[in-house]
Amino acid sequence: KEIFLKDYKLPDYYFDTVDLKFSLGEEKTIVSSKIAVFPRIDGSTSPLVLVGQDLKLLSIKVNNKELKEGDYHLDARRLTLVSPPSGAFTLEIDNEIYPHKNTSLEGLYKSSGNFCTQCEAEGFRKITYYQDRPDIMAKYTCRIEADKSLYPVLLSNGNLIEQGDLEGGKHYVLWEDPFKKPCYLFALVGGQLESRDDTFTTRSGRKVSLRIWTPAQDLPKTAHAMYSLKAAMKWDEDVFGLEYDLDLFNIVAVPDFNMGAMENKSLNIFNSKLVLASPETATDADYAAILGVIGHEYFHNWTGNRVTCRDWFQLSLKEGLTVFRDQEFSSDMGSRTVKRIADVSRLRNFQYPQDAGPMAHPVRPHSYIKMDNFYTVTVYEKGAEVVRMYKTLLGSQGFRKGMDLYFQRHDGQAVTCEDFFAAMRDANGADFCNFLLWYSQAGTPSVKVISSYNADAHTFSLKFSQDVPPTPGQPVKEPMFIPVAVGLLDSSGKEMPLTSVYHNGALQSLASNGGPVYSTVLRVTKREEEFVLSDINERPIPSLLRNFSAPIRLETDLTDSDLFFLLAHDSDEFNRWEAGQVLARKLMLSLVSDFQQSKPLVLNQKFVHGLRSMLCDSSLDKEFISKAITLPGEGEIMDMMDIADPDAVHAVRTFIRKQLAQELKTELLSTIESNRSSDEYVFDHPSMARRALKNIALAYLAALEDPELTELALCEYRNATNMTEQFAALAAIAQNPGQNRDDVLADFYKKWQHDFLVVNKWFALQAMSDVPGNVENVRKLLNHPAFDLRNPNKVYSLVGGFCGSPVNFHSKDGSGYKFLGELVVQLDKINPQVASRMVSAFSRWRRYDETRQKLAKAQLEMIMSTNGLSENVFEIASKSLAA
Ligand code: ARG
Ligand code: ZN
Repeated sequence: KEIFLKDYKLPDYYFDTVDLKFSLGEEKTIVSSKIAVFPRIDGSTSPLVLVGQDLKLLSIKVNNKELKEGDYHLDARRLTLVSPPSGAFTLEIDNEIYPHKNTSLEGLYKSSGNFCTQCEAEGFRKITYYQDRPDIMAKYTCRIEADKSLYPVLLSNGNLIEQGDLEGGKHYVLWEDPFKKPCYLFALVGGQLESRDDTFTTRSGRKVSLRIWTPAQDLPKTAHAMYSLKAAMKWDEDVFGLEYDLDLFNIVAVPDFNMGAMENKSLNIFNSKLVLASPETATDADYAAILGVIGHEYFHNWTGNRVTCRDWFQLSLKEGLTVFRDQEFSSDMGSRTVKRIADVSRLRNFQYPQDAGPMAHPVRPHSYIKMDNFYTVTVYEKGAEVVRMYKTLLGSQGFRKGMDLYFQRHDGQAVTCEDFFAAMRDANGADFCNFLLWYSQAGTPSVKVISSYNADAHTFSLKFSQDVPPTPGQPVKEPMFIPVAVGLLDSSGKEMPLTSVYHNGALQSLASNGGPVYSTVLRVTKREEEFVLSDINERPIPSLLRNFSAPIRLETDLTDSDLFFLLAHDSDEFNRWEAGQVLARKLMLSLVSDFQQSKPLVLNQKFVHGLRSMLCDSSLDKEFISKAITLPGEGEIMDMMDIADPDAVHAVRTFIRKQLAQELKTELLSTIESNRSSDEYVFDHPSMARRALKNIALAYLAALEDPELTELALCEYRNATNMTEQFAALAAIAQNPGQNRDDVLADFYKKWQHDFLVVNKWFALQAMSDVPGNVENVRKLLNHPAFDLRNPNKVYSLVGGFCGSPVNFHSKDGSGYKFLGELVVQLDKINPQVASRMVSAFSRWRRYDETRQKLAKAQLEMIMSTNGLSENVFEIASKSLAA
């Protein structure tokens, strides 16, 4: 059943307090809830509809009186009180659930013998009958009873107010959360866990106990998570003035988790891979992900929990904003430019394709069948770009004013994206014209800009035209409000002062506090629009969309030599990188067309020279260099073609990589030499940057399949003292099929088989491989003793990894499609959320040639015809076929 935003209705009843009791057992768990209900409109007696799924109802009482059949209706998904008393009343429900059988990993389930919960978005209904919607905010208590030796630790939200022993080897705890919350933030954990303890004192003097819970043997690996948590708490105080609001903050790591982590009030639950790290077992990328996600979930305490969403269509209100906040946090902890580059790459590689495919949806979707399918890169990452545009338009201080007003107005409420917009606008008296379209129109806007210099008038004109492509359900679009940050470079590469701009028949001064500015934000709001900058004394080279000021596709009239100039001189480091990427994209596309016409491939020497000078520029940040010499991904290039050709794109990217490695061999070798270090592993920007540069140099060189260079990689592999360098060497060697590859993969497994997180990396590396015919290896790995279809991380590594190799997944014989089709059907019976994420790999099947289209479509149809298909997979598969 499809649910629409336009059908939102206020609830007829609210809940004031909710007292939950859990009796955790091996065969079944008994849940009792006691809810203080009151009608929204005094005296109304409309039916009260509760939802529940996979529950066994034991009893139901209203004001202490047991209801009989007929007083209520019960079907597979709903429990309806036909005529509740008028006025406030008490509702008591007892039901049974079966956590050990719950493989969907939503609601209450068991993971490695421990109980845990995941309620967002609509998992609370798998625990008890409830109005499972975020605008029902109540104060909770939670009493948990369980066997004391099996489940010595029993956690829930808020403060522990009572605990004690019971007969039969049991014990109990009572938790009370003083803050009102929607049920999706409820959490419970029970098991044999130990904690790393620390404290954080807030700036107003509250001493907060911090505890990170894991099985005992993993405790040493929680140091970085604890460091990240304290850094996040401090950062939110410094940057947003936001303090933690309870005396206890718990984080629990569980190995079986559908997503990354969950921000339950004062009891965050995390996928283990985003908590556990040691230098020997986790890479720099893992360390950075942990920092970002620990920050993300902590920041939700204000943006999500204190102020929550009115309904699930508003998801980006909390997620877009919180992703923006975690991006800013990571930027401040490391390199701002490098973080921006990474975030923009992610947007381009994953969000742009979604926005151009059958699952395209606005940042605030208009409808859904399963909300879980809308925890997407569009809601999260494009949503974060939308928040970033407010900041670009208002400046840091204006943005902060907007945030302050947002909390002042809405603390304790469940609100909408318009409420956030209004706070930003009102706090600054800003004119945001049609900015709200960013929430309602799907599709990536395409912007063209044509520049011209008038030497007599000393003016420089920028003519913009924009177009938003049609998306499912939205054939025609309005022009959007696009902030375009611009600067101009003179012929020596220096920034030119900007004094005034002529626009819409008016001359506007740009000078601030009397001084000139060197960068300004143009507000493009129409389908076609011209801006004329005055007092420009020579023909400039424009640096456009600085720091990626809007999530658009930009097409400029910059020549290759302009782009090489920007690559060398732009003061906006993001745009320096971008200039290199634009050049690389152009180059790759033209080589793809040569390849398709069987012409010989030749690499442009200016490009080689451009990368050489980046590689050798010791004034540049090393991590920036490593990004600058990384070619755009295959997906990004296929995305720009009329008919995506995975074989051609792969051949071209491989050709350029080898060619670069050959021509830059000396420089790459000395890069490796000079970036070795025997220092102990530290997670800081200089060390990570050093490792990043060394590792990419090694990857390039190993691509040459030269025995000497392979020996070098093997040497790096053997001598590595941390996972970042060891895994990079392994990956470098494993690029090429052969005995070395097989040996080193076997060696790595032998070394790390006891560590499931490292084994997942090993699965992913093999799954993502472009070696020909890899589908057979992946099929074999499905039967590897370490693999388990019930564990989402393993599925993401092996199956998700495989879909990440375009040559193998889109293999023309259909073997990749067949593999995924069969797997989705099997997986859907175990875990629909994970199956639905996997089936998304099919969604862009129309982008390929006819042969591939037929093969992929056949798999989607096979999936659709499966009996008992979940709503999750149904939604993605049917939309993919329809569009
Ligand atoms: N709110 C969580 C986060 O982003 C994610 C929850 C995902 N839940 C889901 N059903 N997909 O921090
Ligand atoms: Zn989130």
